[in-house]
Amino acid sequence: MPTHPPQLHIADHPLIAHLLADLRDKATPPDRMRSIVRRLGTLLAYEATRDLPTDHHTVTTPIQPCDAQRLHHNITIVPILRAGLPLAEPILDLFPNARMGHLGMYRDEKTLQPTTYYQRLPPNTPDAPVLLVDPMLATGGSADAALTYLKSQHCTDTRLICLVAAPPGLDRITKNHPNTPIHTAALDSHLDHRGYIVPGLGDAGDRLYATT
Ligand code: PRP
Ligand code: URA
Repeated sequence: MPTHPPQLHIADHPLIAHLLADLRDKATPPDRMRSIVRRLGTLLAYEATRDLPTDHHTVTTPIQPCDAQRLHHNITIVPILRAGLPLAEPILDLFPNARMGHLGMYRDEKTLQPTTYYQRLPPNTPDAPVLLVDPMLATGGSADAALTYLKSQHCTDTRLICLVAAPPGLDRITKNHPNTPIHTAALDSHLDHRGYIVPGLGDAGDRLYATT
């Protein structure tokens, strides 16, 4: 059994495995891809936010007062465009008061280096946990650049949610951002010569938005 870094959390749930099977299947059309990604987003966000701090309150039920807890923070959700969008939307449904930032990035097909074309964070983002969401962690270049940017904006509690990770990306984030937990549905074998995750699911953005 390989040992994984403590910051890596691989979701272990039969429903997640079931959804991932359809997501990987090359016959799955874009509308179903988006629907599956949404469901996986809900399930992974549930785990990634398990340790959010809460405050104690007293509420009065129709019967009597009782102790209760409410979330201490209003979190920020930051998808990396494009493919992070359908993963982020269900998290916003779970946390309807959350703030949402956007980071636009694309990976050069030859160099595999990310280029940032859009950055927009809500005010007060650094004060609360930030969920960075992107389905694919391949070389890790995009997530590394995104986390470096979030740190430059003074965000101290960052958490990465992805669906399929590969060892090079995992190693890079573990080394450069050791305090960022990584929540993924799967850790795959390796990258191919074009930087695609093997077995992976192909190009996430293209499959979600029918751009091939
Ligand atoms: C994909 C994916 C990640 C990135 C992962 O986006 O959504 O952002 O590749 O690769 P990396 O770990 O090697 O950086 P892509 O660059 O294809 O952009 P798109 O979503 O606009 O298609
Ligand atoms: N980006 C994708 O969309 N898929 C991969 O396999 C790697 C990077």
